Amino acid sequence: MSLNTLEEIATYIVSNGKGILAADESNPTCGKRFDSIGVESTEDNRRDYREMLFRSSGMKDNIGGVILFDETIRQVAKDGTPLVDLITNQGALPGIKVDKGLQPIGDLGETVTVGLDGLDERLKEYVSMGAKFTKWRAVIKIGDGMPTDECIDANMKALADYAKLVQDNGMVPMVEPEVLMDGNHSIDDCYKASDKSLKSLFDHLKNNGVNIKGTILKPNMVTSGSDCSSQAGIDEVARKTLDCLLANVPAELPGITFLSGGQSDILATAHLDAMNKIGGFQWKLSFSYGRALQAAALKAWMGKSENIFISQDALSHRAKMNKLASLGQWDQELEDV
Ligand code: 13P
Repeated sequence: MSLNTLEEIATYIVSNGKGILAADESNPTCGKRFDSIGVESTEDNRRDYREMLFRSSGMKDNIGGVILFDETIRQVAKDGTPLVDLITNQGALPGIKVDKGLQPIGDLGETVTVGLDGLDERLKEYVSMGAKFTKWRAVIKIGDGMPTDECIDANMKALADYAKLVQDNGMVPMVEPEVLMDGNHSIDDCYKASDKSLKSLFDHLKNNGVNIKGTILKPNMVTSGSDCSSQAGIDEVARKTLDCLLANVPAELPGITFLSGGQSDILATAHLDAMNKIGGFQWKLSFSYGRALQAAALKAWMGKSENIFISQDALSHRAKMNKLASLGQWDQELEDV
């Protein structure tokens, strides 16, 4: 695989319906996931789990990139093969989460994502370890008086500063402005917050001279809040998400890969499929799911080596279903086999 330019890397990741496996859970988040299946979150267990995922047959042809956490990009499989090599052997590109998490701003409970200090040095090390793309996640909350303009501006500026530095180091930045599903807000509130965030993000990217053709956007879908009493249906989510993206995202951006954000795995697939069936856009519209790709595999695994094959089957199935959804070729009936 010889991919020389940012444009080639970004285009490859989302080619032919492929998407991204987000496996960059921090150790505390991985701990929460493992708690749900009664497995202790040790360095070895995290390695075994990810090794199992990266060796799944369904990685090939369906997954174009894998986002890793700092610990994982340094790990080797039980047989001594670097986990990065397992990923490239499957035809996927290794990526790395480079933000350093959330810090409070203001007095409403909002946050700004930090991690620009020392980022240039860290990026240089990740390039030497084979990383081809990176991720930085900004979090926007909807609630009383939120999101504030200050929170949106601070987060989108940081995303643009990060993106420029990443491109200067020869990697593709994935920019993730996540409007959280948490809360009882309506789908229209989500539209407004997402619209404002994307507008601000693309203004900042432009001001910073970020090459949009060498960038991947990882947004939330426009949905009802998870506690909203009236939940928008699949068609409404698909239409409003597309409207919001079409209003803000330049056509030259190669790929939009959604986060799943707490949606069930099937719903995340159904929404993506519905958007691709509607069409009318030039970007590839694909997935960068964490929970929606891994939930069934995690549950099947339970930390037991005798469950590895059924767990890998579960991941392979979701990867295949989401590839079909990225092509607008998924059908609910395919889930029942
Ligand atoms: P989810 O798909 O579980 O939301 O995770 C994607 C991700 O990488 C969030 O930063």
